[in-house]
Amino acid sequence: MSAKPQVLVARKIFADIVERLRAHVDVEEPLDDEPLPQPELIRRLQGKQGLFATGTETIDATLLDACPALRAVCLMTVGYNNVDLAACTARGVRVSNAPDVLTETTADFGFALMMAAARRISESEHYLRSGQWRQWHVDLLVGADIHGATLGILGMGRIGQAIARRGALGFGMKVIYHNRSRLDPALEAPLNARWVEKETLLREADHLIIVVPYSPEAHHLIGAAELAQMKPTATLSNIARGGIVDDVALAQALRERRIAAAGLDVFEGEPRLHPDLLTVPNVVLTPHIASASVPTRRAMCNLAIDNLIAALCGGVMRTALN
Ligand code: DGY
Repeated sequence: MSAKPQVLVARKIFADIVERLRAHVDVEEPLDDEPLPQPELIRRLQGKQGLFATGTETIDATLLDACPALRAVCLMTVGYNNVDLAACTARGVRVSNAPDVLTETTADFGFALMMAAARRISESEHYLRSGQWRQWHVDLLVGADIHGATLGILGMGRIGQAIARRGALGFGMKVIYHNRSRLDPALEAPLNARWVEKETLLREADHLIIVVPYSPEAHHLIGAAELAQMKPTATLSNIARGGIVDDVALAQALRERRIAAAGLDVFEGEPRLHPDLLTVPNVVLTPHIASASVPTRRAMCNLAIDNLIAALCGGVMRTALN
């Protein structure tokens, strides 16, 4: 029997990065890139000490009790709402996520989504591809400005701050934000950012972007009542997690033009989308790709691998959660 720790890599990742891991531990990889159904995940984890995880596995007490050899779960994602951290800690299972390495790439994408919604990029492309363009019009697909507008940020962690920087320094936007805790004024000043109550954020933002982590308390944080407080000219973008925005209420608000447009990268129950979202034109839809640049996805995988090697072979995990 091998003396090396054994690790399951739950999804297909970059081959050269797996090879780096293989120099330290025995690795089992999936044959294809389908998420493993939970019973199959548990079966493959038997006797394994480590799991390289993504956002698509459920790491709960049932799995942990069925996999008593497990000592480390290392996520390549920053979000870890798929992991019962308390259950892991109680069983001595180390957990890490992958913050920082994706901050700028995710902020770039959040900005892109917001701009695409405000300037009606998806609608414009559909208009062209479906052969509707006959002539130029003064009011053809007119949208909202980004520069000089008020950027509202819900959640002001690393990604929120990176978005604020883009808005304030790149586009001359006024930045307001709502977060449980206020930033240090020394951080607020260069971002031209002001902490406001959630109601003020909803009322004053021209472009609202959601970057709070998912938790049960954040479920449907933005629903019909919140959407009703927004400007009819406003846009809303979500790059955080599905379930924070009530997709049905949002689709209705978009259809009735109670807000102007939305950009969504995450969905409740993804990869399925609520059918109502597919029939409204004024929403830009993308499949959870905010961190999906090649260098960033590689950095996320490398960080998770570093953490696995540290946890199983002796060392300090770079981004431990427990
Ligand atoms: C994350 O890292 O949490 C992103 O949502 C990618 O899944």
